[in-house]
Amino acid sequence: SHRTADPTEAFLKCLGLRNHSFVPNKSTYTRRDSGYSTILNLGINNLRFTSTSTPKPLVIVTPLDESQVPPVVQCAKDVDLEIRIRSGGHDYEGLSSVSQLPFVILDLMLLRSIDIDVASRTAWVQSGAIVGELYYKIAKASPILAFPAGVCPTIGIGGHLAGGAYGTLLRKYGLGADNVIDARIVDVNGSVLDRKTMGEDLFWAVRGGGGASFGIILSWKIKLVQVPKNVTVFTVTRTLQQNATGLIYKWQNIAHKFDTNLLMRAIFNRIGAVETGDATIGVYFNSVFLGGVDKLLPLLKKSFPELGVVKEDCTEMSWAQSILNFNGFSINEPLETLQNRSINPRRYFKAKSDYVTKPIPLSAFQGIWNLFFEKEATGAVVIFTPYGGKMKDISKSAIPFPYRSGNIYSIQHLVYWSEEENAKAENYIAWMRKLYSYFGAYVSNSPRAAYINYKDLDLGQNNLGNTSYNEANNRWGADYFNGNFKRLANVKTLVDPGNFFKNELSIPLL
Ligand code: FDA
Repeated sequence: SHRTADPTEAFLKCLGLRNHSFVPNKSTYTRRDSGYSTILNLGINNLRFTSTSTPKPLVIVTPLDESQVPPVVQCAKDVDLEIRIRSGGHDYEGLSSVSQLPFVILDLMLLRSIDIDVASRTAWVQSGAIVGELYYKIAKASPILAFPAGVCPTIGIGGHLAGGAYGTLLRKYGLGADNVIDARIVDVNGSVLDRKTMGEDLFWAVRGGGGASFGIILSWKIKLVQVPKNVTVFTVTRTLQQNATGLIYKWQNIAHKFDTNLLMRAIFNRIGAVETGDATIGVYFNSVFLGGVDKLLPLLKKSFPELGVVKEDCTEMSWAQSILNFNGFSINEPLETLQNRSINPRRYFKAKSDYVTKPIPLSAFQGIWNLFFEKEATGAVVIFTPYGGKMKDISKSAIPFPYRSGNIYSIQHLVYWSEEENAKAENYIAWMRKLYSYFGAYVSNSPRAAYINYKDLDLGQNNLGNTSYNEANNRWGADYFNGNFKRLANVKTLVDPGNFFKNELSIPLL
């Protein structure tokens, strides 16, 4: 009977019938409500997906209480609407906010409690919390505890841990998803399950299988990890004139073998203007060491003397402060800033990822630099993150994230552009594809390895309706999940046999 009515009205009516705590205009927004556009755009990090031509939801639901989540699933099914689950809205391809079929957004931003238990070194975190809030609360509870998730404070815990989650502690403690010990999920029937009631197969799949395929994660229980009261942070920049090429070449051979207390990223972009002939490449060796400067310097002197790091380059601070530092803030920035949901400006961008198993030859870097001297590379940046350490010790099938031993570092390729340039967005995207194609000769191939938290629809996507396992595996599944894709499809078939939870990159049925 719902299907014959206007779908928006039918959906709202169903919610009211199922749960009397739904007050329209308080936790539901339709296209007629004044707050609709604000709420919609607040949760879209990549501004590409805020354009007027982007399909918009019929309704946005922002539950004030967990009991309001199951009715959203039941009513979307009843009325035959797609559902998009949104926690922090940082999806690279906007998949938490956009569907090509009529849809509703379930936005969990108001479900963001964080309960830390210092004694057991664990915490329950609701999906709508951002990682910055988590880091802040942990730091307030204990100066020697932390959590190994992402660097950007505004990422939502819900989608982030569902796709893996890595940051400056990955060489010491692995991924965020490696440190999840329980989860609460609303399944396709509207039942709330925890680790015990969902069983180990589904619990395996939700820790890295990419979110949105199995149900709605309400909260994660995580294991906190130990860090020293003070860590040491340094970033040294070297240009082409200062042997940047030789240094990044050497970095590839050693960064994954450093002491696990040291994480040294290599980040590069173009600095200076091409027109005036001042342009060069800057490679930033952006680092955090879990210990004091007096331990760090001898270590660097032994394994990377060419970099020339001196005591004056280094600053000791708390680990939480180091996250602010990695986001460009000074040592005097109050830790409270970590909780600020608009800490970083939202931008237009296109990104891709790669994994590297053997060093890129020295001679290949010239080709990369040449691409960075092109016009479209003004807002481009590439980030190399070293693996090794704990990442190589965890088995490839422990969770769905498959890139462990044998991978020496991961790459994130990014190109940003401004609002004024957005009419030419295709030029920037074309440049990104060219860069990615150049890297193709030097990185993991067949399948070309990619990180599910850096979604890239260029690799392929599902059909609008159902997509077979083989099609999905050939198009994109093997790229993100390698040998774990089949097991994910197996779990999907068991828990959501009607394929209700689907999107462009959702796990297919077997
Ligand atoms: P969002 O709400 O967009 O969700 C992402 C996906 O998960 C969608 O498919 C969504 O439907 C689904 N989903 C969301 N909540 C769910 C829930 N509760 N239950 C089930 N499914 C759910 N990554 C990283 O590992 N390390 C890093 O340092 C960074 N840094 C970073 C910086 C910036 C600026 C951006 C934009 C992104 C990153 N990322 C990252 C990538 C990030 O991990 C990735 O985008 C996450 O999926 C974001 O999770 P959100 O909840 O914010 O996204």
